[in-house]
Amino acid sequence: MSFLEDLDQIDDDELAELYAYPADLDRPWVRANFVSSLDGASSGSDGRSGSINNAADKRVFALLRNLADVVLVGAGTARAEGYRPVRSREPWQGLRARLGLAPAPVLAVVSGSLDLPSGVLDRVEGAGPVLAITSLRADPERLEAAQRALGADAVLQVGEEHADLGAALDQLGERGLSRVLCEGGPTLMSHLVAADRLDELCLTLSPLLVGGGAARITNGGPLACDLRLGHVVQSNGVLLTRWLRR
Ligand SMILES: NC(=O)c1ccc[n+]([C@@H]2O[C@H](COP(=O)([O-])OP(=O)(O)OC[C@H]3O[C@@H](n4cnc5c(N)ncnc54)[C@H](OP(=O)(O)O)[C@@H]3O)[C@@H](O)[C@H]2O)c1
Repeated sequence: MSFLEDLDQIDDDELAELYAYPADLDRPWVRANFVSSLDGASSGSDGRSGSINNAADKRVFALLRNLADVVLVGAGTARAEGYRPVRSREPWQGLRARLGLAPAPVLAVVSGSLDLPSGVLDRVEGAGPVLAITSLRADPERLEAAQRALGADAVLQVGEEHADLGAALDQLGERGLSRVLCEGGPTLMSHLVAADRLDELCLTLSPLLVGGGAARITNGGPLACDLRLGHVVQSNGVLLTRWLRR
């Protein structure tokens, strides 16, 4: 465990080491990454996280994407933040090659409604493929549209009322996608914790108070999840924390 290293003194290779996934995974490892204000808001007054993040958070956000096989995101976040298929950019492309990862991570969008934002269906040069994860309740017309747009085997139907995240993660693991990065949002995070599938939380604390009624990084009923501190890195008052399942 290390405390209060200075992000600006850590080069990209050391940072990648600090955030490495466990070696030789025999099941998917789920890391969630969030940013929060000091008063617990997961978004600013514009309803997006861009107004509460900062350069330090963006550096770690990009690194975490580039350590992952798959970026898992809730449809609410994909709609609010304008998600598109994920590309890898320099300086991280070489890192992916060295780690034996695909050139870009897969984007997996979790949605009951299958109301997918058009951006995730865009063809983006150099980006990884897109999967949709939904339940058996999915609207047949939207299901067909998603299958047409993404490919039949790119739509995972798991669970009755909600998408069963445990089953979805097992299927991702069978496809060789074991290094999972969940980028939120709060509703998906609550479902993940409730399914007991959260292994790790990377949480950036931005030195801001924003008030308002924004959700915390979990949004739903009571949960119980006990974490231990992995590390704290700081940059100009921004705390980049890593917490691991006990
Ligand atoms: N601070 C941060 O780091 C951070 C990170 C991410 C997001 N955010 C913020 O969070 C806000 C969005 O919050 P949110 O709670 O709506 O986001 P969310 O968790 O990304 O999206 C919720 C939606 O995801 C789908 N979903 C989640 N779990 C599901 C399950 N088990 N089965 C089926 N569908 C499931 C549903 O989609 P359908 O509605 O399509 O059925 C649900 O309405 C935005 O303001 C965003 O900026 C902040």
